[in-house]
Amino acid sequence: MTTARAESIYRRLVARLGRVLPEMELRHAAEVAAEIERLKVMRQAVVVAHNYMEPALYYSVADLTGDSLDLSRRLKDLQCRTVVFCGVRFMAESAAILAPDRQILIPSPRAGCSLAESITAEDVRNLKAALPEMPVVSYVNTYAEVKAESDICCTSSNAAAVLRKLGEKGIRRVIFLPDEYLARNTAGELGWNFVVVGRNENGGLDGVGGVPGQGAVVVGWRGRCEVHERFTVADVENARRQFPDVTVLAHPECPPEVVEAADFSGSTNAMISYVERNGPRRLLLLTECSMGDNIQAANPDVEIVRLCTLRCPHMNEVTLEQTRWSLENMEYRVTVEDTIAEAAARSLEGMIAFA
Ligand code: 13P
Ligand code: SF4
Repeated sequence: MTTARAESIYRRLVARLGRVLPEMELRHAAEVAAEIERLKVMRQAVVVAHNYMEPALYYSVADLTGDSLDLSRRLKDLQCRTVVFCGVRFMAESAAILAPDRQILIPSPRAGCSLAESITAEDVRNLKAALPEMPVVSYVNTYAEVKAESDICCTSSNAAAVLRKLGEKGIRRVIFLPDEYLARNTAGELGWNFVVVGRNENGGLDGVGGVPGQGAVVVGWRGRCEVHERFTVADVENARRQFPDVTVLAHPECPPEVVEAADFSGSTNAMISYVERNGPRRLLLLTECSMGDNIQAANPDVEIVRLCTLRCPHMNEVTLEQTRWSLENMEYRVTVEDTIAEAAARSLEGMIAFA
C-alpha cells in the first residue's frame, strides 16, 4: 500500500528523474525511500551521500551530498546520533574519525576502493625510512592506518593547493600517496618532477633509487583507480569526432594524457559546478557513470554522451535497499581504533583547516 509519504517522494522523483529513469523504478524507489525516512526519524539518523550514488538514492533520502572534501567538512554540522554513509569505506572511516561522537554506518561491508587497497601502513613506514626528509601527503582514498602515518591529507579538489602551500613553506619534495595519476597530474600542474615507487614482491620498495637528490619532486605510489584508469585518449578523440561540440570533463584520477585531452579536470564537486556555471550543450564525463545521471537530472538542457559501463563496483554496492537494511539493523558499524583515529584525525584536520 502506498503511503502519503511514498506518494510525495514519488512525485518529487518523477519531477527530478522522470527523464532519466522509468516510472516503474521510481515508484519502487519511492516506497523504499519512504521507509528510510521513517527509520531516519526513529534512529535520529541522517543520510550522507557521495556524488557517485545512484540517482534514486541521491535525489530521495540524502540529507547531505558532495565530494570527499565537502562531506568531511560539513559532517560536524549535522544534528544527529547516527550517520548512514552512502559511499565507500574510506569515506565512512573519515566520518568516524572526524565525528567520534556519532555512530557511523555503511550500508555494505564490500564498498572498498582499489586506491585505498593499494597501500598499507607498513608501505608508508618503509617509504618514510627510505626518504626521511619528505613529508607524506595522503589522498583521502586511503584507510585510517595509512592516514595515521601521514602528515596531511588532501582530496582531488585541494591536492595542488596543499602542495603549493607546502612549496610556499620551502617544502618542494613530497611523498604523495597512493594515486599515481592524481600525483602525476598534480606534479604536472605545479611543474614539479615526478617519480613513481611501489611495493616489490618481497614487500620492500621499488623505484626509490630513481628519486633525484635535488629539486622539486613528487614521489607517487603505484596505485590506480580501477574505474578512471580505463579512460583513454582514444575515447576522447572518438567522442570529439562523433560530437564536435562536446565538452569533456575528466576526474584527476584519469591518466595524465586523458586529463590533457579533456577541456576541464576537477573533483566531482568541481565538475558539477563547471556544468552549472558554463551550461555546456553536450557533455562527456570521464568519471563514474551514476554521476552523469545525477548531473543530467539537474541539468535537463545538457545532452550527456553516455559511458554507462564505467560504474564503480564499490559505490554500486550501496543501494536504497541496502540503506534501508542498514537503518533497520543498525549495521555495518564503522569504527577506528583510538590511537589510529587520533593520528589520522591530525592529518584530516590539517586538510580541513587548510581548506
Ligand atoms: P571526489 O573527492 O572528487 O569526490 O572523488 C572521490 C572518488 O573516489 C573519485 O573516484
Ligand atoms: Fe575508489 Fe575509483 Fe571507486 Fe573512487 S571510483 S571509490 S577511487 S575505485
